[in-house]
Amino acid sequence: MDKTQSVCSLIIAVFLGSFPVVFAARQPHIVFILADDFGFYDVGYHGSEIRTPNLDKLSALGVRLENYYVQPICSPSRNQLMTGRYQIHTGMQHHIIWPCQPYCVPLDEKLLPQLMKEAGYATHMVGKWHLGMYKKDCLPTRRGFDTYFGYLTGSEDYYTHQRCYYIKPLSLTRCALDLRDGEEVATRYKGVYSTELFSQKVTNIIGKHDTTKPLFLYVALQSVHSPLQVPERYVAPYSFISDPTRRLYAGMVSAMDEAVGNITLALQQAGLWDNTILVFSTDNGGQTLAGGSNWPLRGRKFSLWEGGVRGVGFVASPLLKQPGTVSRELIHISDWLPTFVGLAGGSTNGTKPLDGFNVWNTISSGIASPRLELLHNIDPLYVDEGPCHTEKNQLTAWAESGFNVSIHAAIRSSNWKLLTGYPGCDKWFPRPGNVSSVSKPSQVNPLKPVMLFDIEKDPEERNEVSAQYPTVVEYLLSRLYHHQKTAEPVNFPADDPRCDPGPSGAWGPWA
Ligand SMILES: *[C@@H]1O[C@H](CO)[C@@H](O)[C@H](O)[C@H]1NC(C)=O
Ligand SMILES: *[C@@H]1O[C@H](CO)[C@@H](O)[C@H](O)[C@H]1NC(C)=O
Repeated sequence: MDKTQSVCSLIIAVFLGSFPVVFAARQPHIVFILADDFGFYDVGYHGSEIRTPNLDKLSALGVRLENYYVQPICSPSRNQLMTGRYQIHTGMQHHIIWPCQPYCVPLDEKLLPQLMKEAGYATHMVGKWHLGMYKKDCLPTRRGFDTYFGYLTGSEDYYTHQRCYYIKPLSLTRCALDLRDGEEVATRYKGVYSTELFSQKVTNIIGKHDTTKPLFLYVALQSVHSPLQVPERYVAPYSFISDPTRRLYAGMVSAMDEAVGNITLALQQAGLWDNTILVFSTDNGGQTLAGGSNWPLRGRKFSLWEGGVRGVGFVASPLLKQPGTVSRELIHISDWLPTFVGLAGGSTNGTKPLDGFNVWNTISSGIASPRLELLHNIDPLYVDEGPCHTEKNQLTAWAESGFNVSIHAAIRSSNWKLLTGYPGCDKWFPRPGNVSSVSKPSQVNPLKPVMLFDIEKDPEERNEVSAQYPTVVEYLLSRLYHHQKTAEPVNFPADDPRCDPGPSGAWGPWA
């Protein structure tokens, strides 16, 4: 090709600017690491007694997100990450997807990996799916990922990779393998600790990646969800923790921290790091019944209190304009889809109306977040679990708002957060190792059907102020009423007995 020709093709490339491949060299690699049940107080930089040197260092050089929200449980957070939409808009507002329920994220939802693929990315996923698998069309490989290695449900054994589940219509508990390489059952990994297995798979993908192509890599670690299992070497440094549950959990966090370190090192060694954006996020608040802590926040996983929804999250990247900063701007897990597609120079064409915002300039340059409001959830079927229930006052005021305030719901608008119905376990759990670090039990202030908190001044949700700010309450109830009108009916089908993989099978598509 002579000089004139190459100038010509350059001009053509510019004219074809909307064709993403032309910009391939400038599209950043995006690596999203999702931890499972990682609590707010369980990262070193929040003052934890658990050591997370890799997370601390990466985030110190990046941007720590300190007004960052996720959903209170697993499938809903992942659902919002993959769709950029609130779970009320996918019919998944109620709960997780249990192994025998015949549903998945609706197949007419276009998922993040599909959009990244359309923007020219190689798309890979390793780890926990938990977005439904009753039929093959629901699998990650059919929803935008070029490759997949991981498990389809949740709560499995870290070594055997078996998931035990009581199949109600069959009145039996089935324990079966849940691990796949692509769509095939992966039987060779019995005895390999999943945190090491998954980080090894991830570093293999990174090592083999064609550096001329942009990479989208979704790493959904099993760590640090129960069961509490971890190789002894990770627990050894924590002999000073007297609570055995917390000690094991701390070891699991250390294993996860090492995995993140290994993945980062692999990106550097492969020469990808200079053009990589790495996001670390938890999927929901910590589970205090399994070693996690969200101190000093109220509640825990499965509640709409801050302990359930305020997440650990940060972004690390040489591409950040203001590295080494803390962001206090409101950001939510549904924001990643438009943010990543924006960074990719792609298009969200084909998605249904998004609830997320492109927050890259907020994270990278510190400008105000485009997100002014956040619907935490509206779940008409919510039932409290666990021994944590508190008496609540009878409903009197606000009866005319239009919104049924006996429904479990919460919404945030700037500094204000409104909760209705029973938000879930409402305790303040003490700081691990310090039983006296918690004040009076909440029974002193019984729960009300409508509660308002100024989260900026009162992140611990101790000072309920609905009586002082009736106009704020009325406004937020009207917003809940508006959102509820846009909700899909809850989809939460009964177990299908055909899910049973039999004594020697594996969990997977049956329909
Ligand atoms: C991290 O890499 C080291 C060195 O290859 C390895 O020994 C260790 O098991 C890895 N850790 C995890 C959690 O994958
Ligand atoms: C969106 O996609 C549809 C169907 O693929 C296509 O017809 C339409 O032109 C696209 N719109 C934009 C703005 O790219």
